Amino acid sequence: MLCTKWAGSTVVICNTMYVIQTERLGLRNWTTEDIAPMTAINQDETVMEYFPRLNTPEETQDFVLRMQKQFADHRYCYFAVDRLDRGEFIGFIGLMDQNFESEITPCVDIGWRLTPTAWGQGFATEGARACLDYGLNDLQLSEVIAMAPSPNLKSQRVMIKLGMEKGGYFEHPMLTPAPHLNPCVWYFSKRKA
Ligand SMILES: CC(C)(COP(=O)(O)OP(=O)(O)OC[C@H]1O[C@@H](n2cnc3c(N)ncnc32)[C@H](O)[C@@H]1OP(=O)(O)O)[C@@H](O)C(=O)NCCC(=O)NCCS
Repeated sequence: MLCTKWAGSTVVICNTMYVIQTERLGLRNWTTEDIAPMTAINQDETVMEYFPRLNTPEETQDFVLRMQKQFADHRYCYFAVDRLDRGEFIGFIGLMDQNFESEITPCVDIGWRLTPTAWGQGFATEGARACLDYGLNDLQLSEVIAMAPSPNLKSQRVMIKLGMEKGGYFEHPMLTPAPHLNPCVWYFSKRKA
């Protein structure tokens, strides 16, 4: 799909296939060009405040490969997100299989991680609302779960704004090295019958 967008006095022309497009965002599969900006996001202390540690460049590269495989297999992943007005990559929002051992898995979860200059403008909520609709209605998933460490109130605010229901709390095994992040809270949305 060829899209032409006005960004102030600049015309941004992008030749991008978006899986999901909202008013301000394009959600798509990953390319190798996304690895460098995603590495920068994954190494930003502010972004990673509620994670046990920063992610290395190698981990980000592995993450991008995992997302590409997940998308090829299931037509969903944590999608790479572009701001349409600037044609600029700002992070990820999307759906992912979660199989770690816990009382709420296996499940499909909805997650988000954006560069700080994009925060506070409703982008996470806008992109995630479209992902929930895509997952529950287009892909006919029966349920989507969202989870966050209990101190991460920003992320929980997105879940509430999406209209998700609170399920409760659980101990995330990957957060064992950072006990201040447990328990995690989880929310859910089910497909309407
Ligand atoms: C969480 C994140 C994706 C939110 O992105 P965003 O585009 O700023 O989100 P939105 O603008 O759609 O909504 C954020 C909401 O949180 C609210 N918020 C911000 N800081 C908050 C805080 N400290 N406590 C409570 N709510 C807060 C905002 O006011 C807004 O709600 P409102 O619209 O009712 O005012 C972004 O902060 C991020 O990438 N964080 C780092 C990665 C991360 O923590 N991911 C989640 C892991 S569980």
